[in-house]
Amino acid sequence: MELKEFFHMNDGDGKLSYSQNSSVQKEAWLMNQYILENAIQSILSDEENLVEGLNIADLGCGVGPVPLAFVTLVIEIVRKKYKELKCNNEGPVPRIQIYMNDLPSNDFNLLFRDILNLEVFKRKEGGVPLFLLMGAPGSYYERLFPSNSLHFVHASYTLHWFSQPPKALNSEQGAVPINKGNVYISETSSEVVAKAYMTQFEQDFTNFLNCRCQEVVSKGRMLLTFRGRPSLTNPLIWQPWELIIFTKALTCLVSEGLIEEEKVDTFNFPYYCASKEELESIVKKQGSFAIKNTKTMAHHVAHEIEDKWTRSKIISKFIRAFSESLILRHFGKGVLDLLYDKLAHYAFQHLNYGRSAEHYTVAISLIKKQYICKF
Ligand SMILES: C[S@@+](CC[C@H](N)C(=O)[O-])C[C@H]1O[C@@H](n2cnc3c(N)ncnc32)[C@H](O)[C@@H]1O
Repeated sequence: MELKEFFHMNDGDGKLSYSQNSSVQKEAWLMNQYILENAIQSILSDEENLVEGLNIADLGCGVGPVPLAFVTLVIEIVRKKYKELKCNNEGPVPRIQIYMNDLPSNDFNLLFRDILNLEVFKRKEGGVPLFLLMGAPGSYYERLFPSNSLHFVHASYTLHWFSQPPKALNSEQGAVPINKGNVYISETSSEVVAKAYMTQFEQDFTNFLNCRCQEVVSKGRMLLTFRGRPSLTNPLIWQPWELIIFTKALTCLVSEGLIEEEKVDTFNFPYYCASKEELESIVKKQGSFAIKNTKTMAHHVAHEIEDKWTRSKIISKFIRAFSESLILRHFGKGVLDLLYDKLAHYAFQHLNYGRSAEHYTVAISLIKKQYICKF
């Protein structure tokens, strides 16, 4: 089964759901909010866009605080513009279609219920519906929208996920696993592993840009944020700390005889933490978008929680909310609670040794160049 057919964040709004455990992603979003505001405002300042109506898409929207904050922000900016125009009795009224995209297994029911319950969404402006809300299910590594139709694309904390696990790491049956004992690039993995991750990322991100360059109008904008890594770090060995503790938890379950070693050897997390230089280079090579700016930001997971054990449990739930569907598929249901309990234990050990729980976000803001896309 392909990744796009089963991968999803934990659904619902219970204690293990993504919706209740995505404060890290929300914090990353808040750090970029002003870039988002500027981009939307500049699109609204083009009268031509107001005449035709604006199409805005949130790709890989998921559920929970980020898509809700995004929709609220868009509505508030547009409503302000509407009031300005109405006060001065000038120009056409802005009309917006907001498209929410994710893979079909995303919890769209919860997403739409929550958006429709937003006070800001319910409010009408003189009985005129300024906003229409749409669902656009499917993979953003394929075409999703008509040509030349999108004015603004937002994709927050999602494009680091691959369309499929790196192909080169799937060794033939019976052969020695290429990334034995690891779940990502690590100091002990060979260069082949890092190259496989980098190649998959470049292919996927280029594919994404190829699709969007057909859909985004000239001078249309995109704000893309990624789980990334600091500039100038070595891609051949750099590993996010949460995957270091993840590997420890899995290895521990192997030593206790609860997971087969071979299962760990053949599991590789299907995401890559790119640096801003790597992102810029892929965008330049693809050629359809100009780079407005890029930024790397760091923050610490659940830094506001002083008690280390409480913080470790929060870290484990944060990781569980985005990884459970992958673990379930590869290792089965039986290990889930055991694995994430172990993960809390290793998170505690990590914090107790005084190691950091730093999380890097890389944001890139793009403008579609003024020519017909060649794809
Ligand atoms: C970490 S969540 C981010 C959700 C939300 N944007 C946020 O910031 O909280 C990543 C989301 O990307 C979605 N996703 C992953 N691959 C995708 C693809 N190929 N096409 C569309 N959505 C995808 C996942 O289903 C998930 O909802």
